[in-house]
Amino acid sequence: MAYYRAVGDVPPKRHTQHRDPEGRLYYEELMGEEGFSSDSSLLYHRGVPSAIVASEVWELPDQTRTPNHPLKPRHLRLHDLSTGTDAVTDRRLVLGNNDVRIGYVVTGTDPSPYYRNAIGDECVYVEVGSGTVETVFGVLAYRAGDYVIVPRATTHRWVPAEPSRLYPIEANSHVAPPKRYLSRYGQLLEHAPYCERDLHGPTETFLVESSDVEVLVKHRTSAGVVGTRLTYATHPFDVVGWDGCLYPYTFNIEDYMPITGKIHQPPPVHQVFEGHNFVVCNFLPRKVDYHPLSVPVPYYHSNVDSDEVMFYVGGDYEARKGSGIGLGSISLHPGGHAHGPQPSAIEASLGVEYFEESAVMVDTFAPLELGEGGIAVEDPAYAWSWAGRGPDGGESPAVFSNS
Ligand SMILES: [Fe+2]
Repeated sequence: MAYYRAVGDVPPKRHTQHRDPEGRLYYEELMGEEGFSSDSSLLYHRGVPSAIVASEVWELPDQTRTPNHPLKPRHLRLHDLSTGTDAVTDRRLVLGNNDVRIGYVVTGTDPSPYYRNAIGDECVYVEVGSGTVETVFGVLAYRAGDYVIVPRATTHRWVPAEPSRLYPIEANSHVAPPKRYLSRYGQLLEHAPYCERDLHGPTETFLVESSDVEVLVKHRTSAGVVGTRLTYATHPFDVVGWDGCLYPYTFNIEDYMPITGKIHQPPPVHQVFEGHNFVVCNFLPRKVDYHPLSVPVPYYHSNVDSDEVMFYVGGDYEARKGSGIGLGSISLHPGGHAHGPQPSAIEASLGVEYFEESAVMVDTFAPLELGEGGIAVEDPAYAWSWAGRGPDGGESPAVFSNS
């Protein structure tokens, strides 16, 4: 996060005595990235932030990954995926590699356990629903279309106000605006499709008093992704003030201003975030190419260095009738396979002035593997949809691609 924020009660000088009205010292914590060499915040706690009284194994849901072998483009129907109702513990793994894991969960309205991800930042796309995310920095409101960015090791919990469809993109790194959108000092530049006004961080502190509070921690060992349940002597939401450039925030896709062109613009103009070895883009309703001979749908493309995951989150799917792709679908177009529109869709797109669809895309620079949740809802006919026939010889649906 590029810019400074101060919330609640902080002393005028860092690393100096800061006391409550009774004269007791607050406990200062620096939460910082990349050692002491990148963004950080200073938090002032009532209790000791390291005071734990128990540590036990938290058994994570199935994290098995199955290689995409033999190589195929895939279509996964997330709306057919049944999940438990907890925003944290009932996430099912859809796709993943050693840089990022993509999950899916349909929540109820009970709050999640307290939780933090010690592996990397989380970028949770809210497909449907609303509520709040309570964090050690304060409370974020969330609604459909939000990306909720929760920095690594931020203690938080999800409190859905209504059942919510969440698409967690869990990084093994940090998630931030692309560097090319930023000035050398970190301000979002004029050519960026969004600016600081669109990023919504906590505005006030959030304090809870209790003792022996369990926090689920996702972390890594040589055995891969694992979980631990830590019990804290006092409630971790005891921060009376904080300041700095590291904190959770939300960004809504409605605040993303798509960049359009006279001819087809490549996916990087639709980028919203980047992590290590992956990017997040969104394709949103927009005017399309205005050259008199333009072809609005994409050319075939072979992203030789990446796997491409499209999650179709909104819009009019009339144009895809019969394709199998619809709201809640994921398409995985892996490196080593050229993809693009079904041939008839090219002619059908000529003269079109506006695209209505919304999709969230994750491009990874290492191959993705299928999680158990992805395998459970795969449409086996998709790989043959461009040819119109597969190994069984039957007809397969046509594809119309936005990316
Ligand atoms: Fe693509």
